[in-house]
Amino acid sequence: MSMLVDNPIQALKDYVAYPSVSADSSFANGVAGAREFACAQLQELGFSVDLVDTPIHPIIVATRGEPSWPGIVIYGHYDVQPPDPLNLWTSKPFEAQERNGRLYGRGAADNKGPQIVHMAALARALKKNPNLPLRITYLIEGEEEIGSPSFRQFLEKDKHRLQGDFLLVSDTGSPGPNQLAVTTGLRGLVALEVKVYGPKQDLHSGVHGGALLNPLQALARACASLHDEQGRVTVPGFYDAVQAPQDWEREELSKLPITESAYAEFLGAPGFFPPPGYSPLEAIRFCPTLEFNGIGGGYQGEGSKTVIPAEAFAKITCRLVPDQSAEDIAGKVQKALQSAFPSAVRVEVETKGGGDPYVILPPGKPGADSGSKPLMEKAFSLAEHCIEQSFGTRPLYLREGGSIPIIRDLKEVVGLDSLMLGLFTNEDNLHAPDESFNLEIMNKAIDAFEQFFVGLAG
Ligand code: BES
Ligand code: MN
Repeated sequence: MSMLVDNPIQALKDYVAYPSVSADSSFANGVAGAREFACAQLQELGFSVDLVDTPIHPIIVATRGEPSWPGIVIYGHYDVQPPDPLNLWTSKPFEAQERNGRLYGRGAADNKGPQIVHMAALARALKKNPNLPLRITYLIEGEEEIGSPSFRQFLEKDKHRLQGDFLLVSDTGSPGPNQLAVTTGLRGLVALEVKVYGPKQDLHSGVHGGALLNPLQALARACASLHDEQGRVTVPGFYDAVQAPQDWEREELSKLPITESAYAEFLGAPGFFPPPGYSPLEAIRFCPTLEFNGIGGGYQGEGSKTVIPAEAFAKITCRLVPDQSAEDIAGKVQKALQSAFPSAVRVEVETKGGGDPYVILPPGKPGADSGSKPLMEKAFSLAEHCIEQSFGTRPLYLREGGSIPIIRDLKEVVGLDSLMLGLFTNEDNLHAPDESFNLEIMNKAIDAFEQFFVGLAG
């Protein structure tokens, strides 16, 4: 408790030091270390901590407080993305380093920093009032960065343990240290893998070329057929369920303190390519996508090689917006792909899981759920107040382009809506080399959350 109170940055350094890469089994010790670290912090805060076994990395469920007190659930993930490519890091990814007001390290922003913010804020509040009448259930998983494959099953079995009026999440972004955001939506996600098979082995392209359909050629044509020239997805029915954003959402977004040209410069991109009718910053939040994450096959080495490859592959993900469903879109894209190849090659399309999109309209906004729980309404206005106190400006209410598939599952299965406060920014390099967490945001957010927890209890 004392480290969380006195030196939360050190606590974050210690947390980052465990290389908890969930995608790679050679990091199993690091994943276990991060989990034990999180459990130890919660124990010090007076939580009773339990581990729920899953086929991969156990889920932490911890509770404090009386069942009669107002209750919330706090979500986080102790796993991180792989650190590769290692040579592009300025300092080592798992030896957190403080430089120019930031703490650099894999997971510093996504999601260990925001978790330390919650814990440090709570530690301060509990130091002043050990009996703070707020029931808190912590839910920290270790498989978020690999799509939470065990989460649905956990929910079905253990949903009764997640009693509370809402879910508090800090695993989303904000425009910058002077402008925080309450996240009002997350895109859904569906992943597909396409494999194309031609001859039984690579062939001499002179001896056999001309007689066969090259799997790479077939794949390139099929992939290209999934968008039109303006970038709209051509998969039949893809946009059927898409809801247009509300006017207030577009207006709120227009208050973003970032210009299109600054955004282009930040990305180092030669130009934008949003779908017709949307600005780039709108497209991220309001439009679905079909993205090629990797296409490959054939010779990739130095020089040339005259070969007809035996196989080719593509990895595709779609980001989804309300009211698209992952299952429906997976089926539609599968069908479009299956019919995009001639019978001269054999094609396999596999769906690799995903999650549905999520929207929470803050109380008071058009279309908001009037039956939402009283503590939830209080939480939104309290969050706005605490952010204004600590950061000097009121938060914007913005949807985000990223995905946290379990947020929708928690709504469907447990009935919990989410209050999402974004603590990382574009400059934090999520999933990329030199990931970092802004320490000014960290310090101000600890103040804001201390007031938030105290206010919720009172
Ligand atoms: N924290 C992110 C999600 C996020 C990023 C939300 C930016 C809002 C803005 C999360 O850890 C993440 O990276 N999710 C993955 C999900 C996937 C691995 C199933 C994503 O969005 O790609
Ligand atoms: Mn992530």
